[in-house]
Amino acid sequence: MYSPDVKRYESMTYNRCGKSGLLLPAISLGLWHNFGSVDMFDNGRAIVRRAFDRGITHFDLANNYGPEPGSAEENFGAILKKDFTGYLRDELIISSKAGYRMWPGPYGEWGSRKYLLSSLDQSLKRMNIDYVDIFYSHRPDPDTPLEETMAALDQAVRNGKAIYAGISNYPADLAQKAIDILKDLGTPCLIHQPKYSMFERWVEDGLLDVLERNGVGCIPFSPLAQGLLTNKYLGGIPKDSRAAKSTGHLQTSEVTGERIEKARKLNELAQKRGQSLAQMAIAWLLKDRRITTVLIGASSVRQLDDNIDAIKTLAFDDAELKEIESILR
Ligand SMILES: NC(=O)c1ccc[n+]([C@@H]2O[C@H](COP(=O)([O-])OP(=O)(O)OC[C@H]3O[C@@H](n4cnc5c(N)ncnc54)[C@H](OP(=O)(O)O)[C@@H]3O)[C@@H](O)[C@H]2O)c1
Repeated sequence: MYSPDVKRYESMTYNRCGKSGLLLPAISLGLWHNFGSVDMFDNGRAIVRRAFDRGITHFDLANNYGPEPGSAEENFGAILKKDFTGYLRDELIISSKAGYRMWPGPYGEWGSRKYLLSSLDQSLKRMNIDYVDIFYSHRPDPDTPLEETMAALDQAVRNGKAIYAGISNYPADLAQKAIDILKDLGTPCLIHQPKYSMFERWVEDGLLDVLERNGVGCIPFSPLAQGLLTNKYLGGIPKDSRAAKSTGHLQTSEVTGERIEKARKLNELAQKRGQSLAQMAIAWLLKDRRITTVLIGASSVRQLDDNIDAIKTLAFDDAELKEIESILR
């Protein structure tokens, strides 16, 4: 029997999500990798339990997480059933998304009302829950009117199948339009989920300003660049790493000499600060008050613990920030 740590809310920081009523933990856990049918269920279960014990209340999923697509939601549903029964559901913020290919044919991806609402029903069934807390449009659809995609999110909220609506991977101009449409519909956009790390900084070019102006939260994904911003690849590509696994989304071609050299220099700076590179990469994102929570992945409890400890050293001085910029240049 799992009984959560009674002190779980004492050491985590909770940040307000934009101008909403919702507080999210400074660090959230994503189940994109390590929770599929190809992975070890007990390892995933241990990671989720440890995360909750350390104050992580937010777990991020999507219809297609696995592999097999859908299996991360099934496994998370099984963890919920085994460990998070009864009122514990009310202590969790569970998100899911639809946008990428999930089933064959013309209704199995993108942004139609047909796809989004059918997909949400499927996600709820797989996780065996009545509602998700946040339902996202996973990516903008160039061919479906944005009004239709946003109306589907609004309908999900009105039907009680989602509590909040979010968008992911929307560039600044489309994000503004989506935010405006949702506002008119009466379901404000809660949050945007973009890719953002020291190695991937497109959001600084307009998107973060849009989110701040509109009171929308921000949850950066792949903050560790899938592991490149840790000490993991400094000595080559380990066999058990995401880059080495056939089911991992990090290509070996992305583990370039240039990135490793930067990671090595960043690692030296992190050590001077008394933290790991992973911790520094997370802290670097959280220094911006427009960032609500950082959405990490972890393949072990040890990695999860390392990452959560980032919140112990969040502040940077000007010299450190300058040094980071000069390394990244
Ligand atoms: N909205 C979207 O389009 C989108 C896209 C991608 C992801 N996401 C979300 O973002 C979440 C996080 O993405 P991500 O998994 O790419 O995040 P990440 O935090 O950048 O990478 C996580 C991976 O880095 C390695 N790692 C983590 N902590 C480590 C540590 N302390 N030391 C050494 N290695 C460490 C592990 O890989 P190893 O397996 O090599 O150990 C781990 O699986 C996903 O689960 C998902 O919820 C959303």
